[in-house]
Amino acid sequence: MAKTILITGANAGIGLQTAEDLIKEGHHVILACRNLEKAQQAKLQLESMGTGQIDLIQLDLNSLKQVNRASDEILKKYADLDVMINNAGLISTHLDSTEDGFEKHFGVNYLGHFLWTLKLLPLLKKSEQGRIIHLSSIAHWVGSIQPHKFKAENNTNYHTFKSYGSSKLQNLLFSNLLAQQLQGSNVTSNALHPGVVDSELYRQLPKLQYMFVSLVLIPPTKPAKLIKQMALDATWANKNGQYASVQTPAMTSPKAKDMQLAQKLYDLSYDLVKEYL
Ligand SMILES: NC(=O)c1ccc[n+]([C@@H]2O[C@H](COP(=O)([O-])OP(=O)(O)OC[C@H]3O[C@@H](n4cnc5c(N)ncnc54)[C@H](OP(=O)(O)O)[C@@H]3O)[C@@H](O)[C@H]2O)c1
Repeated sequence: MAKTILITGANAGIGLQTAEDLIKEGHHVILACRNLEKAQQAKLQLESMGTGQIDLIQLDLNSLKQVNRASDEILKKYADLDVMINNAGLISTHLDSTEDGFEKHFGVNYLGHFLWTLKLLPLLKKSEQGRIIHLSSIAHWVGSIQPHKFKAENNTNYHTFKSYGSSKLQNLLFSNLLAQQLQGSNVTSNALHPGVVDSELYRQLPKLQYMFVSLVLIPPTKPAKLIKQMALDATWANKNGQYASVQTPAMTSPKAKDMQLAQKLYDLSYDLVKEYL
């Protein structure tokens, strides 16, 4: 039976490849993208590849107001949702700020998805079995939770990789806390490291750094295969709070296992978005 699957950042890289694999199997995929022109092109490309229904929705994770608007649109349009794939993400080589003044990695990679997920959870609960999949990363190992750095203006000693890693730790802690909260319900929450993937993610890196990264790149088809399994396979039906990995062993850092830290992050994040909930 066709499932309804919502993917953020589905017009490029891992998200686009995952959408392609799902559409080829006849599933209904909602592409949530910030750039509607790019998304239209992706939709056209995907339509020629399979029979699944494809819908577009504009989502800019750079703004909590926009996330709120887009999630309200989803809530109005759809009666239920089977899978959410929280995939959109970026690496910013300089300190940058979201519309709400948050450091870019924190705001786009994590906090926007935090609000998105909490707003849309009721739709997943209406599905026979709802699944949430979070794109984390092996980079979570270098991450830490430093609330004073959430706002860009307070973010002294900015370091690209640590800042990106922190957002991927936040994705993982959120996945783990949700899994705990959802235990015994019809919804699961799991996370993954997709491997070091040939995508647009590294577009801002200096040439030398990109050269090192390019030595180990794998195609987006590899993580897309794992994401499809996590989204649909019966083998993942009862998995909750897991971390899967392509290319490297699925090992999580001590910080990622700390459920007190996960709860603290959840409470702080809830406070930051509560006006929209
Ligand atoms: N590639 C890797 O090696 C790797 C490794 C570990 C984890 N990951 C994670 O995998 C996920 C997908 O990355 P990718 O490699 O496929 O990167 P990508 O090719 O750069 O794709 C990222 C997607 O996120 C979207 N996005 C960026 N900012 C956004 C915003 N403000 N609002 C909405 N969408 C936004 C992009 O949209 P635009 O096209 O409009 O920019 C694009 O569709 C990310 O979460 C990343 O952290 C990737």
